[in-house]
Amino acid sequence: MRTSITQLQKQASAGEKLAMLTCYDASFAVLCEAAGTDILLIGDSLGMVIQGRETTHAVTLAETEYHVACVARGCSKPFILADMPFGSFQESKEQAFRNAARLIAAGAQMVKLEGGAHMVETTRFLVDRGVPVCSHIGLTPQSVYTFGGFKVQGRGEEAAARLVAEAKLLDEAGSGMILMEAVPSDVAARVTAAVKAPTIGIGAGLDVSGQVLVLYDILDLYPGKKARFVKNFMAGATSVQGAIEAYVKAVKAKTFPGPEHQFPAEAPK
Ligand code: KIV
Ligand code: NA
Repeated sequence: MRTSITQLQKQASAGEKLAMLTCYDASFAVLCEAAGTDILLIGDSLGMVIQGRETTHAVTLAETEYHVACVARGCSKPFILADMPFGSFQESKEQAFRNAARLIAAGAQMVKLEGGAHMVETTRFLVDRGVPVCSHIGLTPQSVYTFGGFKVQGRGEEAAARLVAEAKLLDEAGSGMILMEAVPSDVAARVTAAVKAPTIGIGAGLDVSGQVLVLYDILDLYPGKKARFVKNFMAGATSVQGAIEAYVKAVKAKTFPGPEHQFPAEAPK
């Protein structure tokens, strides 16, 4: 049986850290499953690591469906989470449902939507209709052009309070998981304490329910610029399988992320 959201919530409330990795194909899904990865995310990072693009914007729903199906065929236990690509959900809650339904049919158990307060209504609409939702807040790469770059979010009390308030609204709307990217660790801790849903961090410190990284980053396969929160788990490993196992172990043991992978409350001067 595939891991259910209730099982993940139970693990998280028992204090076990959840290990999530992105995954895009069946062969890696086999390895991730064997390494004990709890959640596989078919992320729109596939635009970069698979398609060689500079941003996630051009990834289509059909491409995401294809990769979800590939991953689902490769493993039977990990929880499968799929990104809603740019342009497939922002227009209306109806558009979001129609497209989310396709990802669920392809094998996803939950869909991830980038966005805070403006996604509350859509989140409720989807959850009420049988589509579990993961909310992605903080640095949302689909909004990189409005942010003006890949920048840390939630810095300063006003921005931090806004992030906490948004997370609460999404939680109340039924969001089943809240993912935070590139936010100061103390802000992520405040969000985690304020919501029922398990929280997943990427560049968000240790006070979250679990961690996620891009698979190609932990395997040091991606040639592009590396974010502060990335760690190369191939260093010291003798196989790809071993590297994935080392990541899962480090997440469970809370030895990853280290201080060097986190963002302090104040920007360095
Ligand atoms: O697309 C992706 O890989 C993601 C994670 C980095 C959170 O959204
Ligand atoms: Na993504």
